[in-house]
Formats: sequence, structure tokens, C-alpha cells
Amino acid sequence: MLASALSASIVGVDGVPVRVEVDVAFGLPGMTIVGLAGSAVLEARERVRAALRNSGFEVPARRITINLAPADLPKEGTGHDLAMATAILVASDQLDPVGETGISGTALIGELALDGSLRAVPGVMALVSAARACGASAAIVPAEAAAEAAAVGGIRVHGAHRLGEVIRHLAGLEPLDPLEPPRRTDEPIPDDVVDIGSVVGHLVGRRTLEIAVAGRHNLAFSGPPGVGKTLLARAAAGLLPPLDEDEAAEVSRIRSVAGTADRGPLLPRRRPFRAPHHTISLQALVGGGPRVRPGEVSLAHRGALFLDETLQFRADALDALRGPLDSGSVTIARVERVLSLPARFMLLAAFNPCPCGWFGTRGRTCTCEDGARRRYHARLSGPIRDRLDLVVPLLPVASIGNGSVIEGSRAVAGRIAVAATRQRVRQGTANAELPPDRLDDRTGFDRRIRIGLDARARALGLSMRRVHRAARVARTIADLAGCDAVREEHLDEALAHRPQDGRE
Ligand SMILES: Nc1ncnc2c1ncn2[C@@H]1O[C@H](COP(=O)(O)OP(=O)(O)O)[C@@H](O)[C@H]1O
Ligand SMILES: [Mg+2]
Repeated sequence: MLASALSASIVGVDGVPVRVEVDVAFGLPGMTIVGLAGSAVLEARERVRAALRNSGFEVPARRITINLAPADLPKEGTGHDLAMATAILVASDQLDPVGETGISGTALIGELALDGSLRAVPGVMALVSAARACGASAAIVPAEAAAEAAAVGGIRVHGAHRLGEVIRHLAGLEPLDPLEPPRRTDEPIPDDVVDIGSVVGHLVGRRTLEIAVAGRHNLAFSGPPGVGKTLLARAAAGLLPPLDEDEAAEVSRIRSVAGTADRGPLLPRRRPFRAPHHTISLQALVGGGPRVRPGEVSLAHRGALFLDETLQFRADALDALRGPLDSGSVTIARVERVLSLPARFMLLAAFNPCPCGWFGTRGRTCTCEDGARRRYHARLSGPIRDRLDLVVPLLPVASIGNGSVIEGSRAVAGRIAVAATRQRVRQGTANAELPPDRLDDRTGFDRRIRIGLDARARALGLSMRRVHRAARVARTIADLAGCDAVREEHLDEALAHRPQDGRE
């Protein structure tokens, strides 16, 4: 007899529905899985067989053929186990599902342990979203992933601990209660977040950080060791404006696929702030691996990626940031296909001005040779420098301060949130994501200011890319000032902090 069940596979960070078809026929007893199954899927044979037996069911002594459709989609992972086991039970008359649609309208997702218990798989949110998108009205998932699945919304979600529970639910004997979608809660600020109130001096540094975070522009701090670069950049974590609901779902889905332990709350409000160490591997930074996992650039999606000691990162790692910085996504080439993962983040960079760190600091002597200094700086050129919006040299602060706090993170974050809302209401995106053809009257660039921008671009010899970047920053400065129209003074401030590279 024939039966089919609904499951899903992960491709990148998205789910794709998979139909698990099972045929139980006379013939030599055995189980065959077809349909581009990866090794973990092929091993499902043994898991499903043992789980069925240890849950009190029979493994039919027939020829069992399992087809995973669509057949041209490579399938990885162990999440199809539950759908396979259930379809085998239907096809061998051991389960008679209640309801008109049988089991076809319910997504069955989860790995089976040999004793019949259900184990969570990565990416349950994306898997359940895919099932919802193809019309499923319910999903049964491992209990430990049920809250995550319920966060998808718009589909009934049941959590189960064992195969037996799932089968009794489908047979109408012991229905499992559906879960309520989780509510978004306010998250406390993590202890390691620097309050900008603890930064002494650095008025320009603070101001540019506020601008960068408000419009999600890319910002670099340079300066000698100990000047406070790391301190200031880390303060950004406490300034990022809250995620809206759609963004929160995106962030949760990526974390779910990554399967990281520090997953944070479901549907978070706090934007991601990722600060990988400079020794990180290329794969951990941009993602990849035998089973593609999102890297730091994707975990920073909708938030900030802080590369402390930027120039110590491997050259190929810095180069790999070019794609995400341009397109907001990262492409990973596989043998069989090219995957694209979301990676739209604001970049925070911090580096010393030269290998010894003291070049350009008054009262100190740089001991680097010219060549070494040039080579050091060359690492910043190209991929990163062209994509920075603001660069701020930090100078040593003259005094340790008088104990008075200029302004704490709460006040600054409040202004940033207002400026971020202005952007969302006006154009639906952060200013950093404004395409060049939208820098016009609709976004507050009237004819006069556009002519002014052109004139300055010519006078300063700026590239088109640089002009657009400065214009976006000016838009953010205007938003922080509560201005609908961008004015000359906003352009002045934006251009004052542009990266200087002699190639403009
Ligand atoms: N402007 C400042 N205000 C308060 N603390 C500072 C400041 N500059 C440096 N510090 C302190 O000095 C130490 C080194 O600062 P850090 O940010 O790590 O410097 P950098 O990254 O530039 O080498 C930190 O403990 C930091 O708290
Ligand atoms: Mg530092």
C-alpha cells in the first residue's frame, strides 16, 4: 500500500517542503530510500526500524520503498525520520489517521532515537514555515523545539516526546495540545554590554557611533593601543534600535538553523551584536561546511558585526566580506548548487594606525618601517575601505575625566530609536540600505542639495560610491536632528568623517 507524509529540508537558512512517499509491497523484505538522500538520511533506515520496533509497532516484512520528493533536491539531516516512520505505519495499516486529510496536512518533523524518542533538529522554525507555506495546517515537532516552531505562527503546532505519542495523536486516541505562539518579551541588557556613559571624552567618536548605529552605516575607529576603540565599539551593542517583528523572526530562524547554544530568546527585540575573534576561520565567518551552517556574517544579520583588530583578520576573510557588504547576503558555492544566506549587518571596525600602533600620535614615535606601514594599510584597502561610511581617528584622551558622565546609553539609544523609526516610516529600510535612485525628493534630497552634493563631489574628487555613501550618512544626520529635508550642514558633517584613501 502507498502512503505519504509531509516533512521539510533546510536549504541555506530556508525550509523546503519534502513529501515522504512510502510504498509497502510484496517482495524481498528490505527498506530502500531514494530521492537524493544524504548519508544521514540513508541511516534513517536503521533509526526508523529500531524506533518502530521499540515503540511496539511492527516493521513490515515486505519490500519498503521510501521516496523523498522533489527528487532533484539534495536532502540532508535526520529530520525526515518521523515522517518516514509515520508513513510506513499508514502504508502497513498500523495507523488509520483521523480527519479527512489523513496525515497529509500535518508536517511531521524530527529525528528518531532507537528507543522511539524524538530528538530536535536544527532549523525547526524554517522547516515549519516551509510547511505552512505549502498549505499544512498543523506540525508535529520534537517537544524541545516546539516553542520555536510555535513562533512561526499561522500553523497549529504540537510537541511530542516519543513516536508513540505522535501516532496516538494522529489516530485520534490521545490528542496533543497545540502550543500558543510565544510572546515577545523585553530582554535585559547583557552584563558585557558597555554603557557609553563609561567612555571618557571622545566626543567625535561618540557622535559618529550614534550616527552609524542610527542609520546602520559602516564605521571604523583607528587609533593607538588603549585609546578606547574596543570600548566605544562595544558600546554599540547597547545602542542598536529594537528589531521589528519580521526582523525578529528572521534572526530567530537563522539562529535555529545555526543551532548555536547561545541562541537567545525567541523573536528577540535586541539586535544581534557579533564580535568574532580575528583568528576565526573563513568558514566560521561566512558560513559553509559539509552541512551548510550560517557563519558570523549571517548571525549578525539585522545587527552589527564588530571586527576588533580588523587588520589582524586573514586577508581572505576580509575579502569575503565584500559580497555581504554590497548585497546583504553571502553566497556559498556547493558542488551541486549555489546557496545564498542573509547577511545584512552594519560593520564596526577598529584598528591601530600602523603595526606598532603609534603612527600619527603626538608625543610618540612610530617605529614601523615605511614599507611595513604601507603593507599594513593595504590590507584595509579594497574590500573594506571602499565600503566604510565613517572613519574616525581616536586620539588619547587627555585626562581620566572628572567623574561626570556625558550621557548614558539609555539617552543615546532613545534618540537612535526615534531616528530609526523615521527611516522605517519614510522608506521601509535603514538609510544605509537606500538605493542610489531613491536619494531624491522622496527621501529629502531636493534639487538644491543634490546640486550641492555634486559640486562637493567634484571639488573633493569623490567616486560615485563615496558620494552615495556620504549622502546616506547625511540623511541619518538629518534624521537624528528631526529634519525631513537634508541640509548643507548635514552633508558637511557626513563628509568630514569620510574615509580618506587618496583614491577617491
Ligand atoms: N576614553 C576612555 N574612557 C574610559 N575608559 C577608557 C577610555 N579609553 C580607554 N579606556 C580603558 O582603557 C582600556 C583599554 O581600552 P580599549 O578600548 O581596549 O583600547 P583599544 O581598543 O583602543 O586598544 C580599557 O580597559 C578601557 O576601559
Ligand atoms: Mg582594542
